[in-house]
Amino acid sequence: MSLLKSIPFYKRSTNAPKQVTSSKWFHRNTILTDQVNLFCWKRSLDPSISQYIKKTAALEPEPIRRYVDRNNLHEQIEAAKLEWSHIPDSQPFWQDVYKIVNDFLGFSKTETGTLHLKVIDNDACRKFHVDGYALRLFVTYHGPGTEWLPEGAVNRSALGTVNERIVKNKEAVQRIPTGHVAILKGQLPNRPSAVKGIVHRSPEIIKTGEKRVILRVDI
Ligand SMILES: [Fe+2]
Repeated sequence: MSLLKSIPFYKRSTNAPKQVTSSKWFHRNTILTDQVNLFCWKRSLDPSISQYIKKTAALEPEPIRRYVDRNNLHEQIEAAKLEWSHIPDSQPFWQDVYKIVNDFLGFSKTETGTLHLKVIDNDACRKFHVDGYALRLFVTYHGPGTEWLPEGAVNRSALGTVNERIVKNKEAVQRIPTGHVAILKGQLPNRPSAVKGIVHRSPEIIKTGEKRVILRVDI
């Protein structure tokens, strides 16, 4: 049996997907249950991290993309840190990244993933969609966070068309607050999944001229 098939969310279920928001990080395990397709850990960012990231957003360093393994995560984070070495006092940020990613790879029992860190100045994926991955760790450290739809507000049969058809109730659109740690469940192509993936999109920032700094780890 492959590692992915051993993860509980690959069992079939007919339950409507649920989203969990909690101030307790240990509730992250709910994302491994059949019913949940989004977990969000409510937290406040340390001001030293916010300050570092604000300066990073202004400088727009090159994006970082690294294949990470729990066994070499420390070395990979150190190498990533060198790529964004333009601003002093970065240690609290990198400690935060290490802690979250290490735990994510551990509790999901996958041990490896692809880490992305980047400054975004466009609307990226502005159309609501479901992604083709098993799980994604996502933190918006700066700027507006990812938007998502509760199940009652989404017309899944319209996915792939336009937002006007996909979104049944515009008032119901939710946004993951800046700094909160989200774990999104997707759907792998041609694989049975226990629950439908979370429908989400990037916030529109071109109009406002804002920038975002995001951490993403896909498994
Ligand atoms: Fe996406």
